[in-house]
Amino acid sequence: EAKKRGAVYEMNEIAVKVYQDLLFSPAGQEARAYLKHRGLSQAIAEEFNLGLSERGGQMLVKIFEKQGFTHTEMESSGLIRVRNEGTGHYDVFRGRLMFPIHSETGKVIGFGARALAEGDEPKYLNSGDSDVYQKRSVLYNLNRARKPIQEAGFSILVEGYMDVIGVYAAGVRNVVASCGTALTNFQVRSLRRHAGEVVLNFDPDNAGANAAEKSIPILLEEGVRLRVLSLTGGLDPDEYIKANGAAAYGDALRGARGYFHWLADRARTRLDLHTPEGRVAAFQFLLPAIQKMPDKLDRLAVANDVAEYLKMEPGIVLDEFRKAAAEKR
Ligand code: UTP
Ligand code: MN
Ligand code: MN
Ligand code: MN
Ligand code: MN
Repeated sequence: EAKKRGAVYEMNEIAVKVYQDLLFSPAGQEARAYLKHRGLSQAIAEEFNLGLSERGGQMLVKIFEKQGFTHTEMESSGLIRVRNEGTGHYDVFRGRLMFPIHSETGKVIGFGARALAEGDEPKYLNSGDSDVYQKRSVLYNLNRARKPIQEAGFSILVEGYMDVIGVYAAGVRNVVASCGTALTNFQVRSLRRHAGEVVLNFDPDNAGANAAEKSIPILLEEGVRLRVLSLTGGLDPDEYIKANGAAAYGDALRGARGYFHWLADRARTRLDLHTPEGRVAAFQFLLPAIQKMPDKLDRLAVANDVAEYLKMEPGIVLDEFRKAAAEKR
């Protein structure tokens, strides 16, 4: 098993190199033009080890064969697949911009792969779980971000690869993303080890807001101090920085408010707080996240926010918290 994992790490390293060489070869011209169009310099492409997978689907498999890897080893890397029909093997990632995913200690454990043509579906392909990669426990860029997170005292959690790179290129380096999966407690704990505060900065669209709503209780459960940054203009972090500049992003980041305000805004758009029914519904909406907060003093502080927001007595809010907690038991 250890030997098999070793082979997978080796193949991943080789793949990074092969993809990078292809990106900076004549065959990478279109992909390089795409990077330029997305505002990414060669220096940033190199810092993130970006690459290009070959279209034909035989490049990696041939290289691995020549280097003496067995087909079983190749398949367990997730980079090579056996044909459904006929015989032989082929490269899983073809004609895509490649984002190597590193473990916290800097080993290449998987890949994200973006289509180069607009409208090519799926837009992103991600490595499946393998002997060295469990997506539920990985955060993209944590290997580069962990020091900056410690220094800043907080981490920024964004949705995607391009958001991480855009924010990082703008000089804000304490940024990570989960790779095409819902946020897990495991991922939050690995952030929590470096700093106690998180700024959640998902896309300001429906998908992003729904993902944020699901992520908030998980973050609170792990005891993080949580702020939410919802960027204006419907732009994701990468697009926002491109449109408004790094300084504007820094300002928005500093202005990000506690998660409660964001949740309350969500409630306000859906519910009528002028009616008692609306206020009860808002209370029910806010309660689950608050109950996840392990710290009693934090909960008390939020109870005051809830009371002010719903124009209730703080004592009544606390009573309701206690009742709801008792029902849960
Ligand atoms: P988005 O759908 O917001 O990506 O998905 P985007 O901002 O349009 O992508 P770019 O900027 O044009 O490249 C955000 C993240 O969700 C995951 C990826 O991790 C992506 O970075 N995702 C998205 C997938 O895994 N698969 C998909 O098909 C789409
Ligand atoms: Mn897009
Ligand atoms: Mn989106
Ligand atoms: Mn996006
Ligand atoms: Mn984007």
